[in-house]
Amino acid sequence: GDSVGFVGYRGMVGSVLMKRMVEEGDFKDITPVFFSTSQAGQPAPTFNGELDESILQDAHDLETLAQLPIIVTAQGGDYTKEVHPRLRERGWDGIWIDAASTLRMNDDSVIVLDPINRDVIDRGLDLGIKDFIGGNCTVSCLLMGLGGLFKQGLVEWGTSMTYQAASGGGARHMREVLQGFGDLSGVVSSELADPASAILEIDRKVLELQRSGELETTQFGVPLAGSLIPWIDADLGNGQSKEEWKADAESNKILGLEGEDRVILDGLCVRIATMRSHSQALTLKLTEDLSVSEIEKIIDEDNEWSKVVPNEKEASMNDLTPVAASGSLTIPVGRIRKMAMGPQYISAFTVGDQLLWGAAEPVRRMLKIATG
Ligand code: HSE
Repeated sequence: GDSVGFVGYRGMVGSVLMKRMVEEGDFKDITPVFFSTSQAGQPAPTFNGELDESILQDAHDLETLAQLPIIVTAQGGDYTKEVHPRLRERGWDGIWIDAASTLRMNDDSVIVLDPINRDVIDRGLDLGIKDFIGGNCTVSCLLMGLGGLFKQGLVEWGTSMTYQAASGGGARHMREVLQGFGDLSGVVSSELADPASAILEIDRKVLELQRSGELETTQFGVPLAGSLIPWIDADLGNGQSKEEWKADAESNKILGLEGEDRVILDGLCVRIATMRSHSQALTLKLTEDLSVSEIEKIIDEDNEWSKVVPNEKEASMNDLTPVAASGSLTIPVGRIRKMAMGPQYISAFTVGDQLLWGAAEPVRRMLKIATG
């Protein structure tokens, strides 16, 4: 099979990608060449089940990279910024498949989410596009969940209010949140063990620790455990965060919508103290007055991963949470109902594993398309 270079296979997204490739038997069809930014010369991993001793190549060795027809990277945006332009400058015209955001909005790149935009991907390949980039996690999870409505042109505009997990920041962010929970619970452990102790005293102690400056905040800048952060990514200076900007820009690019066909999307992005699944509360203005059951059918039938959760308390509590969605490719979509504003306004709530459909899975599937 095709030789494929892998960079950043050991990080969090890279590890999820490798695991999924092993699960799907993807290594059978390719000859992997593993690159490292720090361990060149050491033995390479054998995800393909081979026992021969290949060695890790140097991820900054342009000569070696340029020999490959396909490179897949989950190394991160700084690596892409440094290496991609230099490879292209020296005439490399292989396929670059990337989980980082760096190249996403370039005119000569396609954002990959093939259950939603296989047509855009195929057109890109026909036109000679060489850069195929995974989308922002909230955007990919939103479209995997509610893509049916968007594809059928049924959404006039939408707002997305997000509840984004620590993993979106990275592995160290997840550790920091858990450490924070541990520290908070530790400072009141004796009171917690005594059911008769005063709750306001517990609350006071917890808050005191949160405000003390003693909690570890290297990753998030402020304590996240027992709190939230209503800002994600850069400040664009117009009141909007970069994460919020991405919803509209990337969704329309994924769907291939331009000019008057564009769907207007905007909202607020909020970091909460969950582990690896992003949630979002949506308000959509539809172009038509569809019944709730018609809406549910369109969502459910769009792709094999979107799954409607009945808008009932029990089902929502059990099946529509980060705890339920994590580790699964299923994208539950629930809380679907007509809002008080009128028959064309609906609410919805969706959750998706930020490392699977939010990062590794679209990249894995693009590699299958490129080698298929
Ligand atoms: N920007 C996202 C987040 C992560 O911080 O949650 C990846 O798209």
